[in-house]
Amino acid sequence: ATAARVAVVGASGGIGQPLSMLLKLDPSIKELNLYDIVHTPGVAADLSHIPFPAKVTGYKGADSIHAALEGCDVIVVPAGVPRKPGMTRDDLFNINAGIVKTIAEASAKVAPKACYLIISNPVNSTVPIFAEVLKKAGTYNPKKLFGVTTLDVIRANTFVAENQGTDVLQTNVTVVGGHAGTTILPLLSQVKGASFTPDALAALTHRIQFGGDEVVKAKDGAGSATLSMAYAGYLFTAKLLQALKGEKDVVACAFVENTLTAAPFFAAPVTLGKEGVEKVHALGSLSAMEQEALEKALPDLLAQAKKGVEFVQNA
Ligand code: APR
Repeated sequence: ATAARVAVVGASGGIGQPLSMLLKLDPSIKELNLYDIVHTPGVAADLSHIPFPAKVTGYKGADSIHAALEGCDVIVVPAGVPRKPGMTRDDLFNINAGIVKTIAEASAKVAPKACYLIISNPVNSTVPIFAEVLKKAGTYNPKKLFGVTTLDVIRANTFVAENQGTDVLQTNVTVVGGHAGTTILPLLSQVKGASFTPDALAALTHRIQFGGDEVVKAKDGAGSATLSMAYAGYLFTAKLLQALKGEKDVVACAFVENTLTAAPFFAAPVTLGKEGVEKVHALGSLSAMEQEALEKALPDLLAQAKKGVEFVQNA
C-alpha cells in the first residue's frame, strides 16, 4: 500500500482546520501539506505535535502554493470566503470563483495527475470552473475531479435515521443532483426498509436540502457549517484514499462529470478506483416526486455550470 500525500487548500479556515485535524489522524497519510494565505505555519505546528505518521507542513501565501501542491495525490479545497453582511450572492460568486480559478491553475501546473476535491461554494459552479481551467491547460481528467457532496449524504443519513428510529450507522441514503437547495435530490424512495408518510417525505426532503440554513441560523448568521463539513470532507477523502490504494468496491456519492442527465456535472453514486472515478452508477428508479424534482433542478444545474465556464472564458 502506498502512503498518500494530501494537500488542504484553505487549511486555516473554519472547515480547513478541523478537516486537517481529521486527516492528520489518518495513518495512511504520509504527508499533509497545509496551504492558506494566513496562519498555516501555526496550524501545521499545532497539528504536528499529534503522534500520527503524517508529516504536516504549513505553506503560507501565494508564493508557496506550488511547493504545497507539488507531488500530491489528493488536493482538497475548502478555500474561499463566507458571505458577509452587505455582500450579494454575485459578489461571493466572483470572489470564490477567482480563488478556485487560481488554485486550479496552480494544480494544473504542478500537480496535473492529482485528484481534486472541491468544497468551496458554490460547488455547482466551482467544479465546472476547475474543469474549465484544467481543460485550458490540457490536463483535465474527468475521473479525478470531484465536488464534495458528502455533507448532503451525512445530513440525509442523520435526519432519516432520526425520523425512522433506525440505527444511524446502518442508514445509507443516496443523494444525487447538485449541492445547493433544491438541486440537492435525496432519493428517499430507495432507502431500504423505510416508509415515510407524505408529510414526512416532504419535510425530510426540505430539511436535507436546506440543512445548511439550520446551522447558519443557530450560529446567528456568523458562519455556516464547518465541523460537519470538515467531517464530510474527511470521510470522502478517506474513501478515495482507500480506493487509490487498490481497495475494491468503494462507493460514494459525488458531484462528477457524467452523462446521466443533461447537466454536465451531476452528483451520483460513484465506484472509486485506483484512477479516481471507475464507474458512475445509474440513478435507479425514482418516485414521481423525485422525477419532478430532478426535472426542476436540471435547468438550475445547467445555468450554474454555464456561469462557471463563462467566468473562466471571460477572465
Ligand atoms: N487561497 C487559499 N486559501 C484562501 C484563499 C486563497 N486564495 N482565499 C481565502 N482563503 C482561505 C482563508 O484565509 C480562510 O482560512 O480560505 C479559508 C476559508 O475559511 P473560512 O473563511 O472560515 O470559511 P469556511 O467556513 O471554512 O468555508 C470555506 O467552503 O463550504 C464552503 O461556502 C464555504 O466557500 C466556503 C468555503
